[in-house]
Amino acid sequence: MTETMIAVIGGSGIYDIEGLEGAEWRTVDSPWGTPSDEILTGSLDGVKMAFLPRHGRGHVHSPTTVPYRANIDALKRIGVTDVISVSACGSFREEMAPGDFVVVDQFIDRTFGREKSFFGTGCVAHVSVAHPTCPRLGDACYTAAQDAGITVHRGGTYLAMEGPQFSTMAESKMYRDVWGCDVIGMTNMPEAKLAREAELCYASIAMVTDYDSWHPDHGAVDITDIIKTLTGNADKGREMVRRLPALLGADRAPCPHGCDRALEYALLTAPE
Ligand code: ADE
Repeated sequence: MTETMIAVIGGSGIYDIEGLEGAEWRTVDSPWGTPSDEILTGSLDGVKMAFLPRHGRGHVHSPTTVPYRANIDALKRIGVTDVISVSACGSFREEMAPGDFVVVDQFIDRTFGREKSFFGTGCVAHVSVAHPTCPRLGDACYTAAQDAGITVHRGGTYLAMEGPQFSTMAESKMYRDVWGCDVIGMTNMPEAKLAREAELCYASIAMVTDYDSWHPDHGAVDITDIIKTLTGNADKGREMVRRLPALLGADRAPCPHGCDRALEYALLTAPE
């Protein structure tokens, strides 16, 4: 058994965790650069917690400039075992309406302007991301969201786009009709891939804010509407997070899906 430490990486609209005991903002250094912000640590229901605002307090990092490697490395260094990503997304499905949450379980990565791996020259590794999220953690998020009275969907494919502009209508229709995606956002990649390389369990809660630009009855995406929905969603997100420690517990067994052993057969470079 190891001690659980749950990290929440909060997206637009979520900038802290409510009710944290012994709350303290800590500076954490990483050889991969400076994380998006200090990390808020403390405990909730006897479980260690950490919170990192993905865009930094004051929203200073765009989806492209978020220091994803430094963020994941800093969380690993302070002892995090489980990462919950919370972020805004557009929806490609009528039934995934603004205000709903989606527990994402697959990704199509269309980002291109970001560092995507801890491995490269000197140390080569190829981890599997066939199943990029942890089902155990996803189940806990789903239950926590349901218990909080949120309309939540279990499973969905997230198209990760580079941004910062939103998609054209042609792109939106292609992602939905041809590629079968359910939601779209700008931040879950390479975060999910890096969490796997760092042998951290990772789950993603995508909060629907809009119908992107495919929907005949809705206009083009507009950041003002997104912010409006986000403000309502932020309270729901906090309610969900509050329930996670009780569901996950203070001690954890090895991940039944092997997220915490992802490098076991992935390293190609022999240790010196
Ligand atoms: N975040 C929220 N809505 C989005 C959308 N439609 N496209 C990309 N990222 C988003």
